[in-house]
Amino acid sequence: MKRLVIVGTQWGDEGKGKITDYLAQSADVVCRYQGGNNAGHTVVFDGKKYSLHLLPSGILNPNIENVMANGMVINPKAFSEELKKVDRFNLHISDRAHVVLPYHIELDKAYETIKKDVKIGTTHKGIGPTYTDKSARIGMRVSSFIHEDKFAHELKHLIELKNKELISYGHDPIDFESVYNEYKAYAELMKPYVTDTSYLLNQYIETDKKILFEGAQGVMLCLDHGTYPYVTSSSPTASSVPVNTGIAPWLVEGAIGVTKAYSTRVGEGFMPTEIKNKLADEIRVRGNEFGTTTGRPRRIGWLDTVVLRHTKRVSGLSYLAVTLLDVLSGIEELKVCVSYNLDGKEIDYVPADIDDFMRCEPNYITLKGWQEDITQVKSFDELPKAAQAYLKTLSDLVKVDIAIFSVGPDRNQTILVKDIF
Ligand code: IMP
Repeated sequence: MKRLVIVGTQWGDEGKGKITDYLAQSADVVCRYQGGNNAGHTVVFDGKKYSLHLLPSGILNPNIENVMANGMVINPKAFSEELKKVDRFNLHISDRAHVVLPYHIELDKAYETIKKDVKIGTTHKGIGPTYTDKSARIGMRVSSFIHEDKFAHELKHLIELKNKELISYGHDPIDFESVYNEYKAYAELMKPYVTDTSYLLNQYIETDKKILFEGAQGVMLCLDHGTYPYVTSSSPTASSVPVNTGIAPWLVEGAIGVTKAYSTRVGEGFMPTEIKNKLADEIRVRGNEFGTTTGRPRRIGWLDTVVLRHTKRVSGLSYLAVTLLDVLSGIEELKVCVSYNLDGKEIDYVPADIDDFMRCEPNYITLKGWQEDITQVKSFDELPKAAQAYLKTLSDLVKVDIAIFSVGPDRNQTILVKDIF
């Protein structure tokens, strides 16, 4: 495949950055297509660790073209800070992407405090309010942001509008002059990279370049197909790539679903297989399950194949990449959720209604665990039999082949089962 999407199959934090970094070794282009700096992953390059939130994961490799496509929302301040961490890069930013402005961040916080019943537990990065403005057609596009007069004109009007809302929530108003003076410097910094990235991506495709579309978050956080309202405000599915990048749907050749060997979730919202005992604490520490963006401890659960089948249906998954398999070493028995019980009926789907979803009880099968340290394993055959059976059961239950599994954070702890890109 020459155009492959990297999809998070759960609630984000599946290790997409690591899989992107691995596959990017043979990519010409890495393209982020949704979300903003609510995402976060660590990339190790030349022995140095980098925390990235906005920039595509190929940014550290000077041979890769990196694209921030129209489906993204870009915080210019965060962008400028992240750009300082890297050098010798190739970057292209869509003129149709939207800009996160200070009032979006204030409104994100305000909405979370006024919504007593439905607190989402957002990252407070202004993501929801920026996508809201995009849909309401009062957003700031990159094309206006880098145009000095247009930026001033639109910002003045928008701040007037947003201040009314902020004041009504008891928040301080935002000062136009100070935002304008600070942000026009970010606009100048961004300007040289701005282009029509749809045009560019189509050119890359015509010249047969290999492209990785790097998803952020996970399908269960999809605005349409996730556990609404406990979701993010964009669609991390493979099916959203065409609209979020400006390429034809049939030019996407496949998707690799990145799946943790167990489940995690950060923020609010129900997770049917959540475990809240000592084992969860052990997995959290072993898997370093603390948010890259907010540092929040992640909630831990057993692997849920209802979720994975849902992801496969709504997004499309050609292959799976199973990460953090090593974290499960030493656990005597491993549970895998195969269906839910909803009001006495067995179901194999994720109910749309959040109250129905919250009444779902997981039905498990129990598999034998393995005691061996698997962090040095170099092939599927070298895995203990129980670990092989775990992966095989996962793949059989989801009916998707495993192309990659990983047994540790390093690139050389990522094992290719099938060469797909
Ligand atoms: P928002 O995207 O900041 O609006 O947050 C909405 C929900 O998505 C919250 O539950 C966040 O914790 C979650 N979320 C957003 N980005 C990520 C991510 O990159 N990994 C995991 N969860 C995320």
